[in-house]
Amino acid sequence: MASFLEETKTKDTPPVYKFLVDGEWVQSKGGKTTGILSPVDGSVVGLTQIVSQEEAEKVIKRAKEAQKEWGRVEAWKRADLMHGAARNVEKVQEELVGLLVAEVGKPIFQARSEVYRTVELIDYYAEEARRIFGESIWSDAWPGYKKSKFAIVERVPIGVVLAITPFNYPINETAPKLVAALAAGNSVVLKPSTQGAICALSLAHCFQKAGLPNGVLNVITAPGKDLGDFLVTHPDIAAINFTGGTKTGKHIAEIAAFAKLVMGLSGKDASIVLADAELDLACEEIAKGAFSFAAQRCTAIKKVLVEEEIADAFLKKFARVVGEKFVLGDPRREETTLGPVISDRVADYVKELLEDALKKGATLVCGGRRFKLKKGKLVEDPEDGLYFEVTILDRVTKDMRIAWEEPFGPVLPIVRVKDWQEAVKVANQSEFGLQSSVFTQDVNRAFEIAQRLDVGSVQINGKDARGPDHFPFLGAKKSGMGVVQGAKYLLQEMTRIKTTVLNLGFRV
Ligand code: G3H
Repeated sequence: MASFLEETKTKDTPPVYKFLVDGEWVQSKGGKTTGILSPVDGSVVGLTQIVSQEEAEKVIKRAKEAQKEWGRVEAWKRADLMHGAARNVEKVQEELVGLLVAEVGKPIFQARSEVYRTVELIDYYAEEARRIFGESIWSDAWPGYKKSKFAIVERVPIGVVLAITPFNYPINETAPKLVAALAAGNSVVLKPSTQGAICALSLAHCFQKAGLPNGVLNVITAPGKDLGDFLVTHPDIAAINFTGGTKTGKHIAEIAAFAKLVMGLSGKDASIVLADAELDLACEEIAKGAFSFAAQRCTAIKKVLVEEEIADAFLKKFARVVGEKFVLGDPRREETTLGPVISDRVADYVKELLEDALKKGATLVCGGRRFKLKKGKLVEDPEDGLYFEVTILDRVTKDMRIAWEEPFGPVLPIVRVKDWQEAVKVANQSEFGLQSSVFTQDVNRAFEIAQRLDVGSVQINGKDARGPDHFPFLGAKKSGMGVVQGAKYLLQEMTRIKTTVLNLGFRV
């Protein structure tokens, strides 16, 4: 039986993936494609279309037309259709898991959890979407007014939403952007990151196949440098939901004119470990929080601020926990818990930050080497290896780049601080403000610290994390704009307020 996803690609080896416009899977007329290389072993996973500006213009035009009807479809029908998309994801879960491993090098156990989490996420958002309610306001609250005006405040769709998604969760970061926008009655133009685009196309197919009217969901693939500015400045794009780096986010914000912006950007999450922390718990949580998916997560713990008096004890235990937990290797293998980073560029950048810190006096606690996968075995390759060992640096000081920059690779700096006040000060000196975590047994102190941290979320005695996916997820400072996720919150972001005022003939 032909796979459910066959429609998205040609029968070539490697396959050429099409893009989705107006309900049709098509190839670009220009015939240009990008080869997607697997970070696992450098093989070609597939080729994606380089959509031209002219084709993108048609996509947006169709999305705009289709939205008018879609926005009028009953909320329960839209929600039902979203549940249908979740069932389709279940049908192709094995293929999606395989694609995730091949395309972004995610260890297979994490790839499975990403797909499963996505099914749950779509269902939850679909349920929540039936409860997008507004409010009503009487005029007599305003001085001098009687009950002569009655405002009906509705939440209505915004229009065409441009969703720009990242490589690190190509399925689970794409799904909330699609389901929230679509369930709220918008049409969507999805522009996935080039690496991860095959996963995103496959997910879009699950939505399309659930019965979306043509043109309501469209997917454009192209390098951001070719089409990015054209898309974000297009006058028919009413909202942009972007997840990616702060540099790109800032550029979008500078040029996007009147589109509503929702952005999840970079982070430099600090985890604060106080002297009275339960060390076993702190080590377990920070290890997972810092290194899971090779630290290629905006919420990865990217700096530990530990009170000096327990720093040695913490590090001894932490290095042991990390050593036991992370097995570097081929992400297709069940026992692998740490796979490759996404590209040579990322691995080189991580190395650069590491070398800068070592040169300035940081101590290497463990790790630091790069490997390549050759004939199923890891071979050391300091220049080109994408398999970066879990690396811990102690005695990191403020003059080191790793104290402030986001590596998006598995190198964790430990900064020793004299007390909690210094920890808060250092944490808040970051230009970013995504999340922070605090480990202490003193709940009052934890709460006091949480109040002072300038971030979107604070985790007390737990690792930094986006989920569960009904919690609001957002960044302060240069880590974002608007609420990026959390079912009810993102659904609200994907609507705008519209007020209808009933001027009453009677005067109460
Ligand atoms: O890259 C940013 C992701 O939203 C992080 O998600 O906390 O589930 O790993 P996560």
